[in-house]
Amino acid sequence: MKKITIAIDGFSSCGKSTMAKDLAHDIGYIYIDSGAMYRAVTLYALEHGIFKGEDMDAEKLREEMDDIRISFRLNPETGRPDTYLNGVNVEARIRSMEVSARVSPIATLDFVRKAMVAQQQAMGKDKGIVMDGRDIGTTVFPDAELKIFVTASPEIRAKRRYDELKAKGEDASLDEILDNVKQRDYIDQHRATSPLRQAPDAILLDNSHLTIAQQKKWLKEQYLRTCERLAASAQEETA
Ligand code: DC
Repeated sequence: MKKITIAIDGFSSCGKSTMAKDLAHDIGYIYIDSGAMYRAVTLYALEHGIFKGEDMDAEKLREEMDDIRISFRLNPETGRPDTYLNGVNVEARIRSMEVSARVSPIATLDFVRKAMVAQQQAMGKDKGIVMDGRDIGTTVFPDAELKIFVTASPEIRAKRRYDELKAKGEDASLDEILDNVKQRDYIDQHRATSPLRQAPDAILLDNSHLTIAQQKKWLKEQYLRTCERLAASAQEETA
């Protein structure tokens, strides 16, 4: 079957990654978590004195952008890709509250977005990719054959994130997480470059009341339907 591009966008902590990873694994596609790339740049910024208290030295980051190399390597234990920053596995560190609290301002910088979008497009040039993020269906792969836009209430998303951190043994406050979720939603939707928007041809999924298994099943159905639709229109063209 001809490989396609699958773009999954939506709000933070919506379970996009979980279902995207699973679908990619199931159908033998590459999976890329584009949020992990912005998180890796944020970790770099934290470790290289880009943040000074509440301020950010964006010029220093701009000068150092070429020194930031992000890659993904399959973790044989989890069967999923881990994020590497300049050759070092940073998968656990990029999920910390410290990175979560600082990532939105980094993701608003147009030179950061430009660099990340170029890398993402290069990763998807041969199709056969599932990528999740905020601007995948609108900016990175506007011609993706399947686009999904995922949403859920902020309270439900905060609770999911809280449970995730607790399970990892991290200290977390539900109120703090809810504030962070709302703040990130606002910044994601209001930034000048590539704000979070549902692409006109994206299918909307509100997963507030769906289990992970239900979401995965729904996504697989959308994929199969898209393949059937493409096969039918290819047949029509040759007829
Ligand atoms: O999906 P996430 O929470 O790991 O994303 C981290 C941050 O990166 C979030 O603030 C939004 C931003 N992001 C983005 O601006 N564009 C993307 N394609 C993916 C993530």
